[in-house]
Order: sequence, then structure tokens, then C-alpha cells
Amino acid sequence: MSVDDNFGEDEISSFLRTRWLGTGGRLLFFREIGSTNDEAVRQAGKGAEEGLVVIADLQNSGKGRRGRVWKGEAGLNTAMSYLLRPDFDPDLASAITLIMALSCRKAIRNVTGLETLIKWPNDIVSKGKKLVGILTEMSPENGRIGYVVVGTGININQSVFPEEISETASSLFLETGEKVSRSGITAECANCFEEYYELFKSTGSLKDMQDEYNAVCVNNGRRVKVLDPKKSFEGEALGINERGSLLVRTDDGRVREVYAGEVSVRGVYGYT
Ligand code: BTN
Repeated sequence: MSVDDNFGEDEISSFLRTRWLGTGGRLLFFREIGSTNDEAVRQAGKGAEEGLVVIADLQNSGKGRRGRVWKGEAGLNTAMSYLLRPDFDPDLASAITLIMALSCRKAIRNVTGLETLIKWPNDIVSKGKKLVGILTEMSPENGRIGYVVVGTGININQSVFPEEISETASSLFLETGEKVSRSGITAECANCFEEYYELFKSTGSLKDMQDEYNAVCVNNGRRVKVLDPKKSFEGEALGINERGSLLVRTDDGRVREVYAGEVSVRGVYGYT
């Protein structure tokens, strides 16, 4: 029997150490679904509570950032979405993406020993190739957050990628040379997320995680190109602040705060 034959609700639950995330009937597992984010949004509309976790073996319309498609293959990867109902300012919602990235990074290290890096705000990379993608969707309600859905796709045991991403995508199997338990990784992400998220909620900022994030942020100290919709600019990435914005020093010495958006890093995914 292979390490990964029993990917499903029971096995995932057996690895969970969370108090509220994905426990107490808050875990929905699908063999195949359109998008776990869409399902979590649908459940939110029906009044589902914070802590619902939607997991799928295969998504047939997985969504990536900026309207891109997130492709998966049955039996090899994991797709999961968390439903959260945080009671804080909508400006802080983007920090949840960074918390998810930290959680996945830690989960990967705990389960496989692999040390990965984070490309701000939320890609997890190994040797310049992407292993994890995160898509956060927020629904505002009367100036507050109605709910947040944070969705994560992890390339786990896939060994061949479509040609258009073969130069930029990798998997845990390709990086470690070993088949990895999808249930183990999926549950450990939730275990780590619950801890970081509670820390974040208790302080209302990323201050307790900022150093940890900056230590593994591939952008830091490197030349970056910020693809600002108004006007792109270049500079040196200095690290994130307490809100999760990336600080970039431009050539005229000014330090600019980048809240969101696309940032290319020289040498990562082929930006030169
Ligand atoms: C990216 O473009 O890097 C983000 C990819 C996010 C993919 C995940 S898979 C689980 C969740 N459901 C979706 O439809 N998308 C996210």
C-alpha cells in the first residue's frame, strides 16, 4: 500500500490537532468538485460557521489569482479552503494570505523536512519553482468582513506538469524524492494555521510572525519589479511590515509600501 492511498475525511481527521478548524462536523471532503473556494463561499451563504474546511482530491474549475486557472490532477495533490469570519478591519484581511503561506511552509517542513521559501505575498517556492498557490476571497459587509475564504492548492505527488508551467512549477515529491501523505500535509496546514491565526487575532497584527516571515521571504534583499496597475516600478525589497505589506526601496531612496499586487523577483519564475 502506498503512503497516499487513503486520502479522505477519516485519514485527514486522524491527523488534525485543531480545536475548531475542520473539527466538530466542519470538514467537507469531495473526490471531485468545481472549486473548493466556490463551495466554501456557497456554504458561507448558507450560514456555515467559522472553521469550515472544504477539501477536494480534484477540482475541475480550480481558480488561481488574477482570473487564472489552477489545474489539478486526481490522486496527486490537495485543494482546500477555509471559511473564516474574523471580526476585524477589512484592511487586515490580506494578512490572512500571509498567515496561510507561513502555515503551509511550516506544515511542509514538519511533514517532509523540506525547507521552502515564500515569494511575497503567498507563493511557496523551492529552488525557484512554485509548490503552493493561495487565493483569498473576502466578502465585505457594512464596512466589516462578512467572511473570508482562503483557498490553497499544494502540488504534492505530481511528477509531470503541463508544458506551459513545467519550468515554473514543482511538487513535494519532485523536491524530496519521496511520496508524501496528502492527508498528513492537508491536516498539518490546518494545525499550523489555527495557531498562527489565533496569535494574529490576539494582537491584531503580524508583529509576532513578521521576523519568521522575513527570514524565509525570497524577495528580501533582492531587486523586485512591482507591477502596479497605475505605474510599475522597481526597487529593493526590504521585508514585510506588521500589516503584511512589502516595503520596497526605490532607486531615489524612498521606501514604498506595497499592499497587494504582483511582484516579480529577479531570478524567480524567470524575471531577469
Ligand atoms: C494562485 O494563482 O497561485 C492561487 C491558486 C489557488 C488555488 C487554490 S486550490 C484550492 C482553492 N480553490 C480554488 O479554486 N482555488 C484555490
